[in-house]
Amino acid sequence: MSSEAAWVPVALSASIEPGTSAGAVVEGAELVVWRDAKGVAHVWEDRCPHRGMRMSFGFVRGDHIACLYHGWSYDTAGQCRHIPAHPDLDVPKTIKIATYAVEEAGGVIWTRLATAAQAADPLPTMGTNLPVRSLYADCSAAHALAILKQTQLPVGKDETYPARLQVVTPHAWTLEAGALSLSIAVQVIGPQKIGLHILADEGSVDLIAALARWAQALRLALEAPVTVAEVA
Ligand code: FES
Repeated sequence: MSSEAAWVPVALSASIEPGTSAGAVVEGAELVVWRDAKGVAHVWEDRCPHRGMRMSFGFVRGDHIACLYHGWSYDTAGQCRHIPAHPDLDVPKTIKIATYAVEEAGGVIWTRLATAAQAADPLPTMGTNLPVRSLYADCSAAHALAILKQTQLPVGKDETYPARLQVVTPHAWTLEAGALSLSIAVQVIGPQKIGLHILADEGSVDLIAALARWAQALRLALEAPVTVAEVA
């Protein structure tokens, strides 16, 4: 099955608050992720049909998002409903932005960049919902897997355990150490750029803070130069 049929993560749910928008890239496709005032998340092509401005720079008003440039406003189906320069115009149905399927599960916003004809992969099951952080690194997913296989997770005050890595799907990995379980939703941005959206099953404020520091160190490890000995 092609990757276009797969559910792919675009953000931690907690990072997109109602009334806000953000840009995301999945395998080169530029997307806007936005949440309307009712809390429903949307993922669209990040391009206004008028002059191509990024919709992720736009403004969310109730259940519409308006383009920053000339204010064209779109409803939750991606249909343009209002053009400020022509307020009485019955906006043609052809002025529409491409929208994608969205599911929120396990504290992550997932989308499918699929055509209607493609069957859906099952949504990855994530047994976690406490957001730790999203991190973005200049490396391949394969390199991230190799580094994570050797990582040690903080499990208590000044305590770390070697983590066990499991690949549930290409976009959902788990790490376990002691009683701690982490989920990682893997966003492939490009061949050498990934986003890792990390969640824990439970944890004190101190542990979540320690995990956030671990994630920051992980980003440095992911981007560290690879030595000749490691390549050989
Ligand atoms: S480019 Fe979006 S309204 Fe003009």
